[in-house]
Amino acid sequence: MTNVFFPTEQEIPDKYKVSPVNQTKYLIGGELREWSGARQEVLSPICIRDGDKIEQKVLGSYPMLTPEESMQALDAAVKAYDNGKGVWPTMPVEGRIKHVEGFLERMTAVRSDVVNLLMWEIGKTYPDSAKEFDRTVEYVKDTIKALKGLDEQSSRFQREGGIMAQIRRAPLGKVLCMGPYNYPLNETYTTLIPALIMGNTVVFKPSKYGVLLHEPLLKAYQESFPPGVLNTIYGDGKTIIGPMMKSGNIDVLAFIGSCGVSNAIERQHPKPNRLRCVLGLGAKNPGIVLKDADLESAVNECVQGSLSYNGQRCTALKVLFVEREIADEFVKKFSEKVDGLGHGMPWQDKVTITPLPEAGKTQYLDDLVKDAQINGAGVVNLTGRVIDHTFFSPAVLYPVNSKMKVYHEEQFGPVVPIVPFDNISEPLEYMDNSEVGQQASIFGKDPEVIGALIDPLVNQVCRVNLNSQCQRGPDSFPFTGRKDSAEGTLSITDALRVFSIRTLVAAKESPQNKEILRGILKGTTSQFLSTDVIL
Ligand code: G3H
Repeated sequence: MTNVFFPTEQEIPDKYKVSPVNQTKYLIGGELREWSGARQEVLSPICIRDGDKIEQKVLGSYPMLTPEESMQALDAAVKAYDNGKGVWPTMPVEGRIKHVEGFLERMTAVRSDVVNLLMWEIGKTYPDSAKEFDRTVEYVKDTIKALKGLDEQSSRFQREGGIMAQIRRAPLGKVLCMGPYNYPLNETYTTLIPALIMGNTVVFKPSKYGVLLHEPLLKAYQESFPPGVLNTIYGDGKTIIGPMMKSGNIDVLAFIGSCGVSNAIERQHPKPNRLRCVLGLGAKNPGIVLKDADLESAVNECVQGSLSYNGQRCTALKVLFVEREIADEFVKKFSEKVDGLGHGMPWQDKVTITPLPEAGKTQYLDDLVKDAQINGAGVVNLTGRVIDHTFFSPAVLYPVNSKMKVYHEEQFGPVVPIVPFDNISEPLEYMDNSEVGQQASIFGKDPEVIGALIDPLVNQVCRVNLNSQCQRGPDSFPFTGRKDSAEGTLSITDALRVFSIRTLVAAKESPQNKEILRGILKGTTSQFLSTDVIL
């Protein structure tokens, strides 16, 4: 039986208590404006017990802005960009780095508030919430380091065929930045910070869940960047995003979420060729367990890979193919391990499985389980599929086949389908037919078999993991996907590239041109054309 229970107010440890955050402000054009219109109540996935009553804790509320405000935010970004003539896009890289460093300092000052809200808003365990914050800080620092390196490389002239040129990376324009709910800070900043530091101006809309955790950062956003460089909007995406896209004034869509939503947003741009998209979308990463795999280690990796943060990671292992010879043993060990995972509140020690933030999610997962049962699978772990309000205990489904919804759909939650296979062509066919292609994991020992599997897989996904779960990190590695999984590549250095374009100043190597260039460099008459390096 699951040991989850929701606490009373009094049972919440003082350290993790949360006061309601009723956010009334939004940032446009450097001004923190006050909102007095409609509001969205924010419910925590964590329920509170009060006598017989168990209800989701109310965390506060945020403004439900209208298209009028989202267009004002975009106008502010347009003005700050000023067709590339604005203070921010023309600022030397060193100057922009200083602004981001200032932001980093202000951000770290509110760490505890952000981490606590992260935990309460999306139900991520406290250690993982803290890790998300710290990983993000590291990401920003590494971004600064990478940009210094990039700038150093661009600080010299290149000569080719009698032409000399200075090639630099320049901003793209106005970026609409929308992050996901499962990594509302980290994944948002992996696009927001590179977009800003490369000289773009930004309109930022947090995802539906994970909004209030940005409230303690609002002042830092305001104080760290020139007016209009970073603007924030809140509300119903369908209502407030459309008009901005239709205006044609968004140059880059940085979106992490579902493919359906990104398609709907992209389609509204009147000149799609002018829109660059940086997208992190769905995935259904398979784990392929071969008969000679080290079972202990494969089980550990697969449990972590499929159930860390309740399986709500785009990189999670969302289907496990296990060679039939070892399938029963694998399923037994896997189920035991899953049953041993701690269930409870995110602040409790040794807890892995926590309540789910998405409205209607437990019902959706339950439907997936029922559909699998109708089609011949069972819930094979002892504590599987216990539902308590927003909580769903992990259900291991076996044997899963292609008739079941869970074989195809991205469950993004604590349901683990295990498919036995006789021939390696089966998981490979699954990948060929899949609409997505982010990563895969292979568990085994035989170099011949693994080698033969790698080749078809690398052309279906963008990372093949050997004897380990799928994951994004380290952040210096390219993170991308094929098919409907991604557009563009993110890593510390790739993100700097994806939010910029190379542009150059070129001149024939004539004495007159050399004289002009010397004059520009000596007189610092151009910010772009410069051989200075950041020390
Ligand atoms: O949700 C998708 C994240 O990018 C996964 O990152 O593999 O570090 O958990 P992670």
